[in-house]
Amino acid sequence: MTDNTGFAVAIDGPVGVGKSSAAKRLAGDLGMLYIDTGAMYRAVALYNMRRGTDKKDAEAVAASLSDIEIAFTPANGILLNGEDVSADIRSQAIADYTSMIAAYEPVRAKLTQQQRRLAENGHVIMDGRDIASQVLPWAQVKIYLDADPRIRAERRLRELQAKGQPAEYARVWEETLIRDERDKNRVHAPLVRTDDAIYIDTSHMDLDEMVAEITRYVKGRLYV
Ligand code: DC
Repeated sequence: MTDNTGFAVAIDGPVGVGKSSAAKRLAGDLGMLYIDTGAMYRAVALYNMRRGTDKKDAEAVAASLSDIEIAFTPANGILLNGEDVSADIRSQAIADYTSMIAAYEPVRAKLTQQQRRLAENGHVIMDGRDIASQVLPWAQVKIYLDADPRIRAERRLRELQAKGQPAEYARVWEETLIRDERDKNRVHAPLVRTDDAIYIDTSHMDLDEMVAEITRYVKGRLYV
């Protein structure tokens, strides 16, 4: 696992904290590969939701894994068995389904293995919940982003509205709390802040400020 020549930035944090927007920008600025691990969990959820699998049926979800192949397009799109599902994975229904199935150990084992492979020899920025703790414990830079849950719910709401999806604050607030609870309290690879991660509270930061702050840490490790 540690036998690699890569440089990795691990970005973890709860829902709506701005991880993906910051990681994507940073990867573009620094010429690194961006890997959105949440999209991979969402793709597994989409496959199962389309087939009508009960999200509480851990065995059925585990059995589906051998039929699922996930890949990324060069533009950070996600392919589920060759089909570009980048837009389909972004609904609230998928978010809810995903937070259930992401708790299942076989799902995590499959995706963690693929994520480690993707990071082996390149320069990557990977975001998720368990990147520093489980997927890439060797990452040279580990960032934990956090923000007030109310602000995170507001950001999620704006994000959904910008995509033209029906959303109201009360619902998004409730979903944020439920997903936080599931992400932090599941048995396998819960969201944790590791001791060696840099903690950044983004409650009062815009995207530019967030990117500038993380860039300082990454450049510190790249050029020393
Ligand atoms: O970051 P996101 O909202 O796209 O993540 C979707 C779900 O997947 C969320 O409930 C947390 C889960 N997830 C996870 O368990 N581990 C990861 N590395 C990334 C996402």
